[in-house]
Amino acid sequence: MFEVDYAKRLDDKDALAMYKDEFYLLENAIYMDGNSLGLLSKRAERTLYNLLDSWKTLGIDGWTEGGNPWFYLSESVGEKMAPLVGGEKGEVIATGSTTTNLHQLAATFYKPSGTKTKILADELNFPSDIYALQSQLVLKGYNPDEHLVQVKSGDGRFLNEEDIIGAMTDDIALIVLPAVLYRSGQVLDMEKLTKVANEKGIPIGFDLCHSIGAVEHALHDWGTDFAFWCTYKHLNGGPGSVAGLFVHDKHFGEAPGLAGWFGSKKESQFDMDHRMDPAMDAAAYQIGTPHVLSLAPVIGALELFEEVGINKIREKSLQLTDYMLALIQEELSTHGFTIGNPVDESRGGHILLEHVEAARICKALKEDGVIPDFRAPNGVRLAPVALYNSFGDVWHTVQILKVIMDEKRYEKFENKRGVVA
Ligand SMILES: Cc1ncc(COP(=O)(O)O)c(C=O)c1O
Repeated sequence: MFEVDYAKRLDDKDALAMYKDEFYLLENAIYMDGNSLGLLSKRAERTLYNLLDSWKTLGIDGWTEGGNPWFYLSESVGEKMAPLVGGEKGEVIATGSTTTNLHQLAATFYKPSGTKTKILADELNFPSDIYALQSQLVLKGYNPDEHLVQVKSGDGRFLNEEDIIGAMTDDIALIVLPAVLYRSGQVLDMEKLTKVANEKGIPIGFDLCHSIGAVEHALHDWGTDFAFWCTYKHLNGGPGSVAGLFVHDKHFGEAPGLAGWFGSKKESQFDMDHRMDPAMDAAAYQIGTPHVLSLAPVIGALELFEEVGINKIREKSLQLTDYMLALIQEELSTHGFTIGNPVDESRGGHILLEHVEAARICKALKEDGVIPDFRAPNGVRLAPVALYNSFGDVWHTVQILKVIMDEKRYEKFENKRGVVA
């Protein structure tokens, strides 16, 4: 198992191995950062060029003509994303960014009344989500210091679902949690959390940024009220590609908290009436004109997920991270690393290695041809991605890291993060 031949045998048996050729891999590098920014696929490139071509050849008529009429693109891309989150017809729309979608959903579902005024989140969530929730509280006249309840983690890595359930008290009006924690990669039990929130009548939503395209979801069947995500990580939609949101059909018809004309019914949008006639599904939560050029690569990127199926992607992803964990255990156990992700199947698509020298270990990895991701204060994230990483990539990554540690090759760098890290 610890020899390169073993990795080669795993690659020979890998039914998804051919998908590597669908991507532009970086020259002389092993890319382990697909959970931060996924790589460009040839299909995403094609749909982006096709879109540019429709602009070039159709001008304004591109809104309603051509292979992917722009006016309906948010809906059609939403439909393609729906199987990845377990959404039913009309429950998913491609729109906005993760943070703006959270603003929209909090503005819609956070309805404080009487003593039910607080928002429940956690202390490990991504900062942007917390900023958004704080500002939503301020907009409604509440002090975030008192009204944003952040469930504590026992060890700074993981959250305990029982602690979250214990915090679902009578004064909570909204719950927002990550599906997969961005540092440790822990997958929360969304089904269980949704069930209790539903029983208590508290709307619950999840940030799927690190789970979409990596793990399976059944949001409709679980009864989850809403969710939001980006498309530039595991979905490979490109930097700043248009995001997505899910609203359960039990809420169809609920007025959007932040209204704009693209949330209208398609048939009446151009009536230009000053009374809005909102769409009767998740499309109602769009605001303005879609960022069509940033939506175009997502069309092609999603074809691969449709073709392969998320269950096969999850299966291979677990095999890759399992293999990486075994190699780390064997090769790196005396080098001062702590495994910061769950070692059981409640881990998402990446491995977190904690080390006091993490920032400069990441710099040394980059110099030696492995692209990792540093997360302050001490995390090296490594994401072997099912669609374009091989078992060989995993083997080489661990060997390169071992040499860096044995030879202390990181010492020539400063142990400080870059501006984007
Ligand atoms: C978990 C999570 N939530 C929210 C965001 C913010 O996303 P955006 O900047 O696209 O709004 C990110 C960005 O990386 C993220 O990883």
